[in-house]
Amino acid sequence: MPQKVAVVTGSNTGIGLAMVRALCKHFGENGVVYLTARNEERGMQAVEVLKKEGLNPRFHLLDVNDVTSMEKLRDDIKTEHGGVDILINNAGILSKFDIPMYEQAVEMTNTNYHGVLLMTNTFLPIIRDGGRVVQLASLMGARTFYDISEELQHRFRDVSTVEEVTGLMNEYIKATKEGDFKTKGWPDLAYGISKIGVAALTKVQGENVSKDKSKKDVLINCCCPGYIRTNMTATHTGEDTKSMISQDQGADTPVYLSLLPAGTNDLQGKFVTKRMVKNYFKDDIRPVTFE
Ligand SMILES: NC(=O)c1ccc[n+]([C@@H]2O[C@H](COP(=O)([O-])OP(=O)(O)OC[C@H]3O[C@@H](n4cnc5c(N)ncnc54)[C@H](OP(=O)(O)O)[C@@H]3O)[C@@H](O)[C@H]2O)c1
Repeated sequence: MPQKVAVVTGSNTGIGLAMVRALCKHFGENGVVYLTARNEERGMQAVEVLKKEGLNPRFHLLDVNDVTSMEKLRDDIKTEHGGVDILINNAGILSKFDIPMYEQAVEMTNTNYHGVLLMTNTFLPIIRDGGRVVQLASLMGARTFYDISEELQHRFRDVSTVEEVTGLMNEYIKATKEGDFKTKGWPDLAYGISKIGVAALTKVQGENVSKDKSKKDVLINCCCPGYIRTNMTATHTGEDTKSMISQDQGADTPVYLSLLPAGTNDLQGKFVTKRMVKNYFKDDIRPVTFE
């Protein structure tokens, strides 16, 4: 049996690092888990943390804002292993709120939406049969969904192509640039919009990969990991933070999706939280806290 190969983006810290830990424990000698980071020093420090725990992740540089960096990782993995079995698109940012809305929208759309889209497009050609792609959305997006106009809600619900989803994200950016985003039905929650984009994108990518005859049993799903204390949420304080869970607990749902057994046929293009499928655009799953 060839070793399983897994890649986790943005895994030098936070939930990404916890997912690498869980996958290293799961596969042991039977897998190679790539801990990737945009900064070599931070990445190597994270590798050392896991080595001290007796685990053996492999490091590779990866910046999800840079297609050349994605292609280098893909080509290196193809040369060494022939393909990849698990891709977890975890890297994400929450911009500062004190910068102009347009800058927030561009930053978060670039990393949280385009970073996911481009990673999956770049890696799909080498994803082996039985491969699992997991993308980090957020319940914050489900909350934001109810702050956009009904017309935009319908358009997100009805997307059937990647171009339509990207078109909606571009419309949002344009509206923030022109300053009339509120009158056009968009809220000032660029993080949430970027994650709505991930959920809509995942639905379409899942449908597309199911129809792709060259791919057998490849599943693409997205999830919310929960509300977790990480660098992203480090400034959060108060009552709301009581519902926070640990980083290792946060890794549970994405790792579960990355290890779905062969022949799983009811999880494709879905949004999952606490290992449960929810309809991001129909069920009212608005959380009380940031998730
Ligand atoms: N924490 C929560 O409660 C929560 C809830 C729902 C969803 N999420 C989602 O879960 C994912 C992980 O979040 P987290 O809380 O673990 O955040 P985090 O601790 O801030 O970690 C984010 C990771 O993404 C990396 N990253 C950012 N931009 C990158 C880029 N261009 N290329 C490569 N890596 C990049 C960061 O690298 P650097 O260290 O170099 O910055 C870091 O490793 C995100 O997608 C987030 O939106 C988190």
